[in-house]
Amino acid sequence: MKRIAVLTSGGDAPGMNAAIRAVTRTALARDWEVFGVTNGYAGLLEDTLSPLTARDVGGIIQRGGTVLGSARSPEFREKAARDKARAQLAVRGIEALVVIGGNGSQSGSAVLAAEGLAVVGVASTIDNDLHGTDVSIGADTAINITLESIDRLRTTASSHRRVFIVETMGRDCGYIALMAGIGGGAEVIAIPENEVPVEDVARRLRAAHDRGKTHALVVVAEGARQGVHEMVEYFEGRQHETGFGLRITRLGHVVRGGVPSSADRVLASRLGAAAVACLAGGVSGVLVGEVRGEIERTPLAEIAGRTRPADTALVELARVLAT
Ligand code: F6P
Repeated sequence: MKRIAVLTSGGDAPGMNAAIRAVTRTALARDWEVFGVTNGYAGLLEDTLSPLTARDVGGIIQRGGTVLGSARSPEFREKAARDKARAQLAVRGIEALVVIGGNGSQSGSAVLAAEGLAVVGVASTIDNDLHGTDVSIGADTAINITLESIDRLRTTASSHRRVFIVETMGRDCGYIALMAGIGGGAEVIAIPENEVPVEDVARRLRAAHDRGKTHALVVVAEGARQGVHEMVEYFEGRQHETGFGLRITRLGHVVRGGVPSSADRVLASRLGAAAVACLAGGVSGVLVGEVRGEIERTPLAEIAGRTRPADTALVELARVLAT
């Protein structure tokens, strides 16, 4: 292997820069050349690649987002587009590609790998919904940002005897909401994998009020069908049912921004290096992730279309601790 390219794809995740840095520097250490692709798969199509040196990836480990830029690229679903991208890589003499991204991006990697390109995926999404890793780059930071918001809301909630309904990101996965909800001591956690009917939310809040609680927190994953929208509709004119006042906070993209946590920087550094180690050993068509603390390689063909199920023991723990 002499020449590789690296790109970041899909929703950005804090820690992506640490992964770009690790891929670049571990590849350079083997005397390979590394090219950074701008704006994900779109950059492959537009052939916007430039060489990366060790200095180019200096001073980025602590920065959120991705210095390469990212995008969702529906045009890459077309075989003609992928053929064009592969041909352009071949003209440049680039033999392999590292894709840092989440579910959609790794489905793209799987197709590219099936079509003959040497690709290694690096598990990176705040949603932590990828099969093949216990934790993906960005999830820890997203949990901590959600948690900090919950802590802040709790202080004002207790001053005013209010319930705050806090919505966090995660697409169809409740991982961020569940972890931040447990860490923040939420009274109710509503996630797609464990829906809580709005009548039940109201009942639990009333019970919390009657047990003497001065305030309460409901953490809702954006993907919950009984979500913020349904709760707002239900509580319209019925706030008195809970005994508390009610306010709503939707965190949105705040959850994805800012400085990566130490855990995300270290995970990204390990996974970036692991991707290069795969290619050095002649292994491709895999996703590198972390399973029970160890780096694990999972065939990309097994990743596509699968997600991580919620930890039912944690869901139950959250319910018991909310008393
Ligand atoms: O997949 C990461 C994620 O932040 C999801 O949690 C969220 O649903 C989605 O991306 C938002 O996408 P966009 O940034 O395109 O609005």
